[in-house]
Amino acid sequence: MAGIRFLVGAVLLSATVLAADDPCLKCHGQVSTGAPAVDPAVLLNSVHAELGCNDCHNVNPELRHVGTHDVLCGRCHIDAAEAYGVSPHMHGREVSVEDVPGCVTCHGGHTILAVDDPESAVNHRNSVSVCIKCHEDASVTAKFTQLPKPPMIKAYENSVHGRALMTEGNMRAPACTDCHGGHSFMPSDQPESPLYKTHIAATCGRCHEEIASHYTASVHGSALAKGTLESPTCTNCHGEHDIRAHLDPTSKVFAGNVPRTCSDCHASEKVVGKFGLKADRIATFNESFHGTAIELGETTVANCASCHGVHDIYPQSDERSLIHTVNIEKTCGSCHDDLPQDFAQGQVHTSATDPTSGGEFYVRKFYIWFISILILAFVLYRVLEYKRRVKRV
Ligand code: HEC
Ligand code: HEC
Ligand code: HEC
Ligand code: HEC
Ligand code: HEC
Ligand code: HEC
Ligand code: HEC
Ligand code: HEC
Ligand code: HEC
Ligand code: HEC
Ligand code: HEC
Repeated sequence: MAGIRFLVGAVLLSATVLAADDPCLKCHGQVSTGAPAVDPAVLLNSVHAELGCNDCHNVNPELRHVGTHDVLCGRCHIDAAEAYGVSPHMHGREVSVEDVPGCVTCHGGHTILAVDDPESAVNHRNSVSVCIKCHEDASVTAKFTQLPKPPMIKAYENSVHGRALMTEGNMRAPACTDCHGGHSFMPSDQPESPLYKTHIAATCGRCHEEIASHYTASVHGSALAKGTLESPTCTNCHGEHDIRAHLDPTSKVFAGNVPRTCSDCHASEKVVGKFGLKADRIATFNESFHGTAIELGETTVANCASCHGVHDIYPQSDERSLIHTVNIEKTCGSCHDDLPQDFAQGQVHTSATDPTSGGEFYVRKFYIWFISILILAFVLYRVLEYKRRVKRV
């Protein structure tokens, strides 16, 4: 559809081919006429070499010129122009025309090259520089208060994606437009945005296909698909512009940081309470041997994801869950050799304050009563002894 709409415009309008005797170049081809000089070689080298001057300019050379403001890109590039027309960049013109980009700001005028030409301003390896010129400029973001501040954008450059693309030249890594979509750049709180919460997994999944399919089937993915907006998508666990490799200690999903990332929700009665889940999963994990070891910086012990899975998390009752009774021995066994009988069958998230935790709870109860009675008996003993002494005197 896009191709057809594009072609109709192009065929109708690109009949003229730039020639040396072009009426416009009579004046604009040489500096001596006083008209702004145009180098035809630049145009002939561009993707628009086939076009005539007035395919873009719409100037009547006999009459007064209307000027560059009326350059007509949209008459041929209908989809780009329509998407641009609903973009925040279009709306921003009402606030400040100089601070929002038009076609020419991002693409140039006579110099436009094919997008896949490495020299193009919007080639995959270059386009980030176009966006950050404004989005990392505090004087621009100061005028548009809805925009995130420059450090939030700059985080991309240090992320696993930004480094891969900009430093290592890995062309498979995403530029701004791979996540935000081209031209319309809808803010992420609009349902049309590729970064609206329920669309994020598909957007990341264009490149991380297998992970996205595991996630989509998981308890979190299926809950979100059913409209449970409290359930996490990729960016809740990985971050947005600041995504790091999982082996990087600053990553939200580095082994030692996983409990904190899960705790954003699983330690909050308000978030998981309404799904019948307990908000003490983190506290009980922290009390456990594994949790204490992680606190001490030990990263080979089990974290939440070692037992529950990473992208394939399911309730324990689901056979696909790593802690389902048919799988749990294998799960513990991946780190513990020679498991003793029933090693894996005990509860993991035990809490001394929860009767369903069994042993630990009753041991704690016993000690509380035992110590209380001991103290009472001791006080009683002292009182009686005191009375006896008073009588003697
Ligand atoms: C007779 C000489 C002459 C011819 C022919 C001519 N121009 Fe111009 N053009 C000028 C002069 C002089 C200026 C600068 C003064 C002005 O802006 O009016 C100019 C300015 C322009 C500008 C810049 C306006 C701006 O806002 O800065 C554009 C664009 C332009 N011409 C396009 C064209 C196109 C396209 C043609 C052919 C259809 C053409 N001109 C034919 C003399 C000419
Ligand atoms: C693909 C569309 C396109 C074609 C084809 C095109 N122009 Fe332009 N032209 C532009 C744009 C866009 C600008 C404004 C560039 C800018 O603002 O940096 C421009 C700017 C100009 C200017 C003003 C330059 C200045 O220094 O102020 C002149 C004059 C001009 N064009 C003349 C021509 C002539 C003559 C031709 C044919 C030989 C031509 N253009 C072909 C898109 C085009
Ligand atoms: C000339 C400066 C400029 C350039 C270049 C630019 N932007 Fe913007 N952008 C802005 C301004 C200003 C706004 C705020 C407009 C508004 O919402 O009123 C904005 C808005 C946005 C928004 C919506 C933000 C929101 O919360 O409403 C996104 C997303 C965005 N730009 C992404 C990009 C991307 C991606 C690029 C590069 C392909 C880019 N921009 C290039 C200036 C620029
Ligand atoms: C904020 C910067 C920005 C603005 C404004 C912008 N573009 Fe683009 N455009 C890009 C980038 C970046 C690409 C590269 C493709 C991609 O990464 O999605 C592109 C790609 C294109 C393409 C190649 C085909 C396609 O759609 O991907 C055309 C044609 C195009 N733009 C035309 C236009 C026209 C016409 C306008 C004005 C209505 C415009 N662009 C405004 C940044 C911009
Ligand atoms: C008269 C129709 C026409 C006008 C007006 C026009 N273009 Fe084009 N544009 C084309 C055609 C045709 C192509 C494809 C040429 C090719 O692929 O060899 C093209 C290619 C492009 C490309 C490269 C697309 C790609 O996939 O690599 C960009 C970017 C672009 N134009 C932007 C613009 C901008 C920005 C303007 C306004 C300044 C503009 N065009 C005005 C017809 C036009
Ligand atoms: C890996 C995907 C990804 C890349 C690459 C990316 N972003 Fe974002 N961006 C996001 C997500 C997700 C959000 C939503 C944040 C939120 O929900 O608060 C966002 C938010 C934004 C916003 C705030 C408006 C909005 O839509 O919420 C702007 C502006 C923005 N990004 C610009 C950029 C620029 C400029 C670049 C390139 C330097 C870039 N982004 C690269 C994923 C990405
Ligand atoms: C509930 C939290 C969570 C969600 C949701 C999540 N991830 Fe992950 N992700 C993790 C954890 C934890 C790791 C680290 C695994 C490890 O240490 O082996 C990880 C690792 C990764 C890795 C690197 C390891 C590898 O196998 O290549 C990528 C890439 C990744 N996730 C992408 C995604 C994408 C894309 C999505 C959305 C479709 C997503 N993640 C959703 C928690 C999550
Ligand atoms: C255009 C393709 C593309 C998109 C879209 C994309 N990624 Fe990536 N991602 C990559 C590539 C390529 C790498 C590998 C970079 C490297 O290490 O060289 C990567 C690396 C990662 C890593 C680090 C893997 C590791 O080793 O631990 C994580 C995590 C990740 N991406 C998550 C996401 C998330 C979340 C999203 C969506 C918000 C997303 N990606 C969107 C291509 C993409
Ligand atoms: C953004 C909030 C959020 C984050 C972050 C999060 N979860 Fe969840 N999780 C939920 C919600 C909400 C549910 C309930 C979904 C439902 O049942 O509809 C859930 C369900 C679960 C379940 C299934 C419980 C059951 O028995 O039904 C497990 C297991 C789980 N999460 C583990 C994790 C682990 C491990 C992490 C970290 C790697 C994590 N979650 C990160 C919100 C979150
Ligand atoms: C050593 C393995 C192991 C580790 C580590 C672990 N869990 Fe569990 N988890 C289990 C088992 C087994 C169950 C089943 C109930 C039980 O034994 O308490 C469970 C149950 C759950 C449930 C579902 C029951 C409910 O009511 O919420 C959630 C959610 C959960 N764990 C989250 C986490 C989070 C978050 C972490 C990290 C802070 C974590 N788990 C660490 C093994 C583990
Ligand atoms: C990612 C690896 C890993 C997984 C999976 C794992 N553990 Fe552990 N666990 C460790 C490490 C490392 C220690 C440290 C002591 C050691 O070397 O035995 C430990 C210690 C323990 C301890 C205390 C010390 C001991 O050996 O008695 C218990 C109890 C324990 N794990 C139970 C479990 C249970 C039950 C499961 C399965 C639900 C499990 N673990 C899954 C790595 C893991």
